[in-house]
Amino acid sequence: MADNKAKLTIAETSVDLDVLSPTLGSKVIDIRTLGSKGYYTYDPGFTSTASCESKITFIDGDNGILLHRGFPIGQLATESTYLEVCYILLYGEAPTQEQYDNFKTTVTRHTMIHEQITRLFNGFRRDSHPMAVLCGVTGALAAFYHDALDVSNPVHRDITAYRLLSKMPTVAAMCYKYSIGQPFVYPKNDLSYAGNFLHMMFATPCEEYVVNPVLERAMDRIFILHADHEQNASTSTVRTAGSSGANPFACIAAGIASLWGPAHGGANEACLRMLEEIKTVEHIPEFIKRAKDKNDSFRLMGFGHRVYKNYDPRATVMRETCHEVLKELNLNDSLLEVAMELERIALNDPYFIEKKLYPNVDFYSGIILKALGIPSNMFTVIFAIARTIGWIAHWNEMHEDGLKIARPRQLYTGYDERDFKSEIKKK
Ligand code: ACO
Repeated sequence: MADNKAKLTIAETSVDLDVLSPTLGSKVIDIRTLGSKGYYTYDPGFTSTASCESKITFIDGDNGILLHRGFPIGQLATESTYLEVCYILLYGEAPTQEQYDNFKTTVTRHTMIHEQITRLFNGFRRDSHPMAVLCGVTGALAAFYHDALDVSNPVHRDITAYRLLSKMPTVAAMCYKYSIGQPFVYPKNDLSYAGNFLHMMFATPCEEYVVNPVLERAMDRIFILHADHEQNASTSTVRTAGSSGANPFACIAAGIASLWGPAHGGANEACLRMLEEIKTVEHIPEFIKRAKDKNDSFRLMGFGHRVYKNYDPRATVMRETCHEVLKELNLNDSLLEVAMELERIALNDPYFIEKKLYPNVDFYSGIILKALGIPSNMFTVIFAIARTIGWIAHWNEMHEDGLKIARPRQLYTGYDERDFKSEIKKK
């Protein structure tokens, strides 16, 4: 991969560094030898640092391109199912019919969780945020799958992937049912992955829930569009946690914690809250003004992205799906009107144009989820279900490539060495 050299000169010292050429994207300077010369690089937030080598997902933020194993997200969203995308992310190739059928059967047959887990829920307050419950319960799964699990064994890692992929919708739906005081609904094997999730969310023991195919497809699409996004905060968290050889269920719980923040997966919930706050089209200019004001911490939620400096390709599909769902349900959501006008105004405003702030995937997903009857505090939980496959694929790739514990260095700006003198009275 190294087809070029870079020379770094620091005072009298000069260091030769390899320049690595990826299949796609920017060249990468290999700085691994710098530490031995007594220098580190400084890059808070990792804006210029490739933390690993990966073959899973490629993003070209300037041109709005997202590829999973080489396949464009637009094609995957319109021509595949979420489980097909999961297979592609995990194994690198599109499945044959037989491979797909086997994969689907295996995932479907692992959806139940240990009955003991249901008791764990009682320890949570009913009004807990479902992300707190999801994080806790996913971490607790480590207690059920630990002793016999050898993370260096590819077969064990494969089984872990099935378990996580299958059980996450079950746990997520249980978080919802617990929060509203309804009994848990067990998975149904004759339903699709998305259909089963909707069933576990909305069926009750008193009434059958008939899955609407348009809504099922919309749910599946939301899962596809959130499946992976290379080395984002939560995926990097999963890799960092896993780099010590930690239990994968605990690593995924760490990823869930990272995803929860409003700058990451929490943005869809925050975006819907913002649209509700804006309420009507007339109030938009006031919010745009606030977003541009340096002295106001308010940001337009669902706008901007660390990597995309162009329209997020996932937002395009999400926008279409949003219209499909509202049409199917015959809903005339005023929030959609606010969203579309907000998008129009922001895309024509010099502030947003100069800073390359475009709508991201979360801008429309909240409206779809709301139309599906999903409460806003569950939005990030749904993101977590979808992203689980990305987390596992990266965790797996990291193990395949050979573990190296993540251990960044720092630019220390604290005290120099000084004498300690205690002022505390000792008994
Ligand atoms: N509204 C108003 N101004 C913004 C916004 C926004 N949504 N996003 C960025 N800016 C401005 C910043 O104030 C900053 O201005 P300055 O250069 O004058 O200081 C400039 O644009 C760059 O912003 P940064 O925060 O440095 O950009 P970064 O790449 O670190 O942040 C982020 C990306 C966190 C996504 C940011 O755009 C944001 O907070 N957006 C809103 C939250 C959101 O929608 N998050 C979802 C991300 S997608 C996902 O996780 C699935």
